[in-house]
Amino acid sequence: MIVAVTGIILIVFVIGHLLGNLQIFVGPDWINGYSQHLRDLGPLLWAIRLFLLATVLVHICVTIQLAMENRSARPEPYMDKRYVKATFASRHMVMSGLIVFAFIAYHLAHFTFRKTDPRFALLKPDPFGHYDVYSMMVYGFQNYFVSGFYVLGLFLLALHLSHGSSSFLQSLGFNDKKLNPRLALGGRIFAWLIFAGYTSIPVAILLGLIKPAQQL
Ligand code: HEM
Repeated sequence: MIVAVTGIILIVFVIGHLLGNLQIFVGPDWINGYSQHLRDLGPLLWAIRLFLLATVLVHICVTIQLAMENRSARPEPYMDKRYVKATFASRHMVMSGLIVFAFIAYHLAHFTFRKTDPRFALLKPDPFGHYDVYSMMVYGFQNYFVSGFYVLGLFLLALHLSHGSSSFLQSLGFNDKKLNPRLALGGRIFAWLIFAGYTSIPVAILLGLIKPAQQL
């Protein structure tokens, strides 16, 4: 239940963050203004950040503990391992989750703390005096390796969500023979929509559809 509840909170964040980021397609004023609004929240923003961090840590610690309990419940390995129902995604939740965690650590260094690309410090404020998040994202994703790493991280996030976004219902006690397969399908569709939404940003930048608002 703890994994399910923390998972729901993180899914809500992933949806909200995607909607915020998609504003890059509307224009620099939107996404720069949005980012400034978040910063203007001041102490509330820090409270949300700490809450999210605690949620991620609890989600990871409890899942690892569950995985270890699972393993110790059967010290002898199976002679013959054939999966009847478990999908690839459901069998690799710990692996995909830990790689997504590593991706988030890199992502924070990249766009929140801006430590990986010295050009980000050279960006001038936009005409409204806001930090130019728009140009930062464009310059960041113009690098093929950076964009490739993001797509890999987002792929693993989608794999993780393709199981997690429907299995949390079972963890919370909802189990219906007829509805379960439909919910599983809905979870998969949701996860790959999230993947398509996020990856559309680096892809559009690499295709030259979005250009920086200022030259460096
Ligand atoms: C193409 C994909 C993504 C883009 C373009 C993107 C963009 C950004 C940007 C620009 C910021 C900094 C905001 C600012 O300081 O004004 C940020 C922060 C953040 N992103 Fe992402 N993001 C992406 C994917 C993700 C994913 C998949 C996750 C989580 C699963 C994530 C989690 C975070 C977190 C936790 C922060 C820190 C928020 C804060 O400042 O407190 N991002 N992202």
